[in-house]
Formats: sequence, structure tokens, C-alpha cells
Amino acid sequence: MRRIAVCPGSFDPVTLGHLDIITRASKLFDKVIVLISRNAGKSEPSFTATERMLMIEAVTHNLDNVVIDILDGLLADYVRNVGAVAIVKGLRAVSDFEYEFQMALANKKLYPEAETVFLTTASENMYLSSSVVKQIACFGGDISHFVPEVILENIQQRLVKER
Ligand code: PNS
Repeated sequence: MRRIAVCPGSFDPVTLGHLDIITRASKLFDKVIVLISRNAGKSEPSFTATERMLMIEAVTHNLDNVVIDILDGLLADYVRNVGAVAIVKGLRAVSDFEYEFQMALANKKLYPEAETVFLTTASENMYLSSSVVKQIACFGGDISHFVPEVILENIQQRLVKER
């Protein structure tokens, strides 16, 4: 039996923190679906879903068991439809915990067959988030320590233009 995990998120844009979690998840499961999903609690994303997908593709092409998909619906329904056994999320700090715990419980209620698995973020990524990256890039700061090199130029150009 192939064990499928879904790694959902806004990925707006994907960071080294996300990539670390995706890479580690790919070692734990037979197949990992990185799922670009809509967070109803966040404002409009800076990058379109297709742009985010292309960026994730560029940084995960060496991971054979990782695929990318886009969802405009409920995560629990998607997980059920693809027969995934787990939802994988990165946990950075205590501040993430309450929100992530709430989502994990809600997803468990909606689809009890899947488990939410939390991977502790690497210590060097504790402070890292897509919004921190956007803030820095928007004002012309150096984001090379936060995002994979292959997409650095792309992100910088887009976000500086947005100002
Ligand atoms: O990277 P984020 O924004 O913290 O990820 C949150 C995300 C997109 C995974 C979450 O909002 C989500 O699952 N959205 C899909 C819609 C859904 O199922 N919402 C209810 C979750 S309990």
C-alpha cells in the first residue's frame, strides 16, 4: 500500500522553511502532494496559484515522490479523495500551536481517517515565514537566506514591482 501525505499551505511564496518540511516529509511517505490551498483568513495572495506552483516545481524537481496540486476547496475533502493517510505541517513555535491544533482537530472531525503530522521546523527557520520574506523583499532587502536560489530573482522582481 502506498502511503500518501498531503502538505498543504499558502506557499506565497515557498520558503526554505517549507522546502525543509517537504523534503523531510518525502522521506517519511511514499508520495507527498504539496497542495497550494486557499487560506480564507488571509488577504489576497501576492502570487497566483499557477506562479506558486511553478516556483514549488522548480525547487522540488529533485524529489521524485513529490507532486504539486492546487485546491480551491476543503482540505479534508481533498485528502479523502486522494486516499491520503496524513496531513503534514511544519510547526515553528508555540505561537503556531493554537492555530495548527485547531485546524488539526477540525480536519480530524471532517475526515477522521487521516492524521495530522507535525514536523518541528529546523532551528534556523524558526522565525521564517512567507510574510517576513515579502516584507523584506518589498523594501529591497536581501532574501537570499530565506528562499531557494532558483526562485530568488523571480520573487525579488515581482515584490519590488508591487510596492
Ligand atoms: O500556509 P497557511 O496559510 O498557514 O496554510 C493554511 C491552509 C491553506 C493549509 C488552510 O487554510 C487550509 O487548509 N485551507 C483549505 C480550506 C480548508 O480546508 N480550511 C479549513 C481548515 S480546518
